[in-house]
Amino acid sequence: MSRTVVVMRGDGIGAPVIDEAMRVLRACRFDADFVDAEIGWSCWRRDGEPLSGRTLALLENHRLGLLGAATSKGRVEAEAELPAHLRGTGLSYRSPILSLRQRFGLDVCVRPCTSFPGNPLNFVRRLPDGTIEEPPLDITVFRQNTEGLYAGVEWTDPPAAVRAALSAHPRFAPFLATPGGDLAIAARIITREASRRIVDAAFRHAADRGIDAVVLAEKSNVLRETSGLVEEAAREVAARYPGIALRVMNIDAVILRMVRRPEELRVVVATNLFGDILSDAAAGLTGGLGFAASANLGPEVAIFEPTHGSAPRHEGCDPPVANPIAAILAGALLVDHAGDPETAARIRVAIATVVAEGSVRTRDMGGSATTAAMADAILARL
Ligand code: NAI
Ligand code: MG
Repeated sequence: MSRTVVVMRGDGIGAPVIDEAMRVLRACRFDADFVDAEIGWSCWRRDGEPLSGRTLALLENHRLGLLGAATSKGRVEAEAELPAHLRGTGLSYRSPILSLRQRFGLDVCVRPCTSFPGNPLNFVRRLPDGTIEEPPLDITVFRQNTEGLYAGVEWTDPPAAVRAALSAHPRFAPFLATPGGDLAIAARIITREASRRIVDAAFRHAADRGIDAVVLAEKSNVLRETSGLVEEAAREVAARYPGIALRVMNIDAVILRMVRRPEELRVVVATNLFGDILSDAAAGLTGGLGFAASANLGPEVAIFEPTHGSAPRHEGCDPPVANPIAAILAGALLVDHAGDPETAARIRVAIATVVAEGSVRTRDMGGSATTAAMADAILARL
């Protein structure tokens, strides 16, 4: 066997949902070895670092990861959980997911949001005459994953050099007198190359599926430089796909369209923050976080995860009751990426069957099935 998946269960509901995803991957005879790797809170509590060197080495080596979720806590709380000898040494907790994205250049984030018929959480629309429509939805959001407003270049009380640079901009004039402690600045960093890569991934996805348009959700009438550069890169990429239209829309208009006529959106591409927001909205229309999975793709390494976090609100639920479908769908994305679309399709059909039958539903779906019971039902349909 040539392929090895690095399995990072992580914190909170991350662990039980990944366990169920693993059961499904094993049962469908996906041809791979699995190796456990530590991430998140347990590492931090012991080593003062949420990502262990072993985990990084395994990812570097095997290039394929499946991740549950890692809890991020505030500075004070994180410090308090360090072992005594590490407290006060200046260690600061950084979300391991963000670190992984940056470390391995996982700059393309793909978030497919497809409704399953029969899901009580599906988007419905009431028409003026009172009829209720439930259009089937199939929206994939491509989110730039490493730059933009999430690049992490920000300051409160910016250093003198930054203030001086900002002062050179005529539009900074109204802020010149604001005291440093009352001023926070974030840099929205956009590069042409990363913009091209995310847009190209969106166009390739559309081309593979015979979809005739890609929507770019930006705001170039206001963010002239940053959104402007993304748009320019998008037009360059679009020119290579003559059969597919590039629709440049403002992010607010896309959100409005998404909540009113989501069936008109198929492929949407956006910078980091906009893509984060859009993909949660799209997930909300197709079953919520219990159904949302993501692929984080870099030039070499690819990491798949349910979009949700560790859901501390579920802490103490024994047995676990989180919906494992998002994690199982993340497994299906991994299987697709590994070049076995037939197996991935079988997993999705099994999920669709259980959802359509409607007798096994987790709490988020209005039922009382546990995490394991939902996975059992899916396994029985495989
Ligand atoms: P969250 O996604 O963990 O949970 C929000 C709410 O959504 C939950 O309280 C729950 O009601 C619901 N939910 C989420 N997943 C569900 C599932 N599988 N089944 C049923 N209901 C589900 O987001 P939150 O509360 O904002 O973040 C919690 C922690 O997770 C934070 O520390 C955050 O930093 C971290 N986080 C980690 C991520 C990652 O590791 N990739 C991603 C997002 C958040
Ligand atoms: Mg999010």
